[in-house]
Formats: sequence, C-alpha cells, structure tokens
Amino acid sequence: MPGFELFGEEERQAINEIFDNAGGIVFAHGFDAMRNGIYKVREFERGFAAKMGVGYAQAVSSGTAAIKVGLQSLGIGSGDEVITQAFTFVATVEAIKETGAVPVIVDVNETLNMDPDTLRTAITSRTKAIVPVHMMGECAEMDEILAIARENNLLVMEDAAQALGASYHGRLAGTIGDVGAYSTDAGKTLNTGEGGLVVTNDERRFIMARAYHDHGHEYSNVKGRGEEGALCYGFNHRMTEMQGAVGIAQLAKLDLIVRTQRRNKGMLMERLQSLPVAFRKSPDPAGDLADTLVFYLPDRERTAAFVAGIRSNGLGTKNLPDAIGWHFSKHWKHFMNDHPLYSGRTESAWAKSADLLERSIAIPIMVKMDDARIDRIASTLLAISREVL
Ligand SMILES: Cc1ncc(COP(=O)(O)O)c(C=O)c1O
Repeated sequence: MPGFELFGEEERQAINEIFDNAGGIVFAHGFDAMRNGIYKVREFERGFAAKMGVGYAQAVSSGTAAIKVGLQSLGIGSGDEVITQAFTFVATVEAIKETGAVPVIVDVNETLNMDPDTLRTAITSRTKAIVPVHMMGECAEMDEILAIARENNLLVMEDAAQALGASYHGRLAGTIGDVGAYSTDAGKTLNTGEGGLVVTNDERRFIMARAYHDHGHEYSNVKGRGEEGALCYGFNHRMTEMQGAVGIAQLAKLDLIVRTQRRNKGMLMERLQSLPVAFRKSPDPAGDLADTLVFYLPDRERTAAFVAGIRSNGLGTKNLPDAIGWHFSKHWKHFMNDHPLYSGRTESAWAKSADLLERSIAIPIMVKMDDARIDRIASTLLAISREVL
C-alpha cells in the first residue's frame, strides 16, 4: 500500500533540488527573487489536479487538515450537521467538530462504507453535508449517496484519505462529490511524511479552500504577500516545499503502485478461492485500490482465534482488528461524552457496524510482495481456516 515502499533516488533528488537550485527556500510562497522559479508545492498541486482530472488541487499539511479545509470551502459551520460513518479514522469526526458542526455518525453496511439506508434516516433540517469515507481502498456506494444528497439538497465531501488511486465506475475517488480530501501521510498511497490535498472542480470552493488553509490570504497576482487582504477567517494548514518535492516524485509512481497492488491482490484472491469466509462486498471491484483484503468470519470468537493464528504465523493485519479503537466510533469516549446524540451510548449506537467490524479481518497488500510471499500468505490463511472454521 504505502508509497514509502518505493522511496528512492527520485525523492532524494527532489529534496536536493530545493537546496541545490532553489536557494534552500522551503516555504511555498514568496522569496521570489531567491528561488530560481522553483515552487514545489505549486508543481505538486498542478500535477495532482491533472492526474486526478480535476480543475483545482490545494495541498495542505495533513489529511485531517484537508477534511477541515474542504468542509470550510463548503461553508460548513456551527449549527450545521454533517453526516459521516462509524468506520473511519477518528480524524474525519475531529475535522467535522473543528468546523463547529455536529458530526452525525451512521452505520456502515457489508461494503464497510456508509450505509445509504441509514444515511437517509439520519437527515434532519440541520443537515448540510455528507462525508462518505472510502475505507481501505474501496469506494462507498456513491450513486446512492449522491442521489440522496441531490434529493435533500446536501453537499458531499469525500474523505478519500485511504483511497487515493481507487475509482468508482470510472471516476477517481475524491473527484465524485463537491469536494474531495486526501491524505499523504506515512501510511498512504503517496507518502510525503505528513500532508494532504483538497480537490474540486468548483473555482469558488477552491478559492475558499486556498484562503482558509493560509490565514485567509487572497492570493493576489499583483500584490506581495504582505499587502494581500484576507478573504475569510483562516488558519495555517500550509504544506512545505520538502513535502511538495517528495509528493511530485511519489505522484509519478502512482500508476505503478495501483497496478502492482491490483496484481498482487488478484493473485492472492485466486489462491483464496476456497477460503470459507465472506469477503467484503465491493461496489466496484474493478476500481478497488487493492491495498487491503478484508473478510468476515461467522462470529467474534472465531475471529479472535483466526487473528491469533495470523499472529502466531508471523503475519500481520491492517487496522482490523489491531487498530479498531482508532477507526470505530464506538471507542471514542474521550470526546463523545459531550456529543448531543451519542453521549453515554457509544457502546450501543452502531450495532450493525459493531457486528460487521468485530468479525472483520483485514490483510495488508503491499507493492513489494513477490509470488513466494503471496503463496505463503494464502497457504497460511487456508491452514488457519482449516483449524478454526
Ligand atoms: C479515513 C481517513 N481520514 C483522514 C485521515 C487523516 O489523515 P492524516 O493522517 O494525513 O491527518 C486518515 C489517516 O489515517 C484516514 O485514514
């Protein structure tokens, strides 16, 4: 999955160029006379927008920031409700809270993404936006979600942090709704250490995202930074030139990453045809980013026994179940106690999600997995299943 597997000379060269040719200017703006025309973050943004086929990309300091900046660009604020899903990284809900809006958290279904039926029942007169999250490389059921959004006049921001490179019926994850947010942190498809991007085709929203991520700066073509006015209240969520440089080098590897993961997952799936489990439901198998293989076991007891078998054979799982605490709202009591809807009931609020997630096992698919490794993972999983199931 992660771009870090492919770190190489290209990333090193990209960083060195800042010091060799750009006067060591590591700030993305200004210093025009000293930097020899080299603006890494801007180049990364242009390249990313072109690769994603969108009008605009705004690079920011993290995926969490990308969600918040994206929501700000949609005009979300206090008094609004924003619907997202129970299975996501905690950052999605943190970012919604940071805007002042109330996060409304709905169940996932067998896709492990937002359940459109539950989404429908959660809409109120205060709902302003929906944030479907494309978890573990698979897109949410966007046709259904977009139809519900249209019927109810709601905005859609995709959290595509875990799905950079995935697609849904030919459209790339993150480019389907009004705004999309990506992460380029150390575990994601592209790795800039920390980082993220907001994309949109709507110039107005882009201008607001750009302003908000940088203290409100208007980004004038004629005034210097110091003389610029502010378009809105803002914050500092800027990306540095070092991140931009690494991002450019990583972006050039995106096709290779996606292609190789798909090959590796395909090979593993072929070898697991006889595994007696239910595999995660995919709304569009051809668009799977293929960085994770998820399956459900019949009950929690056998899931625990299966996971113990995986560990004792020296293999790993990916977030399910090892980091479920960070990815399932049931566990976020540290900030849910003041929540108007879920205070005191996080244990029971998402029974359907709990049933699915607590029977799920996720196996990471890496770029650098040779055939022998794929064979070993398959034969190990088959052997464990013979013992446990
Ligand atoms: C679904 C999801 N949203 C948001 C984020 C936040 O991204 P970052 O770590 O870059 O802040 C992550 C990171 O793991 C994520 O998985």
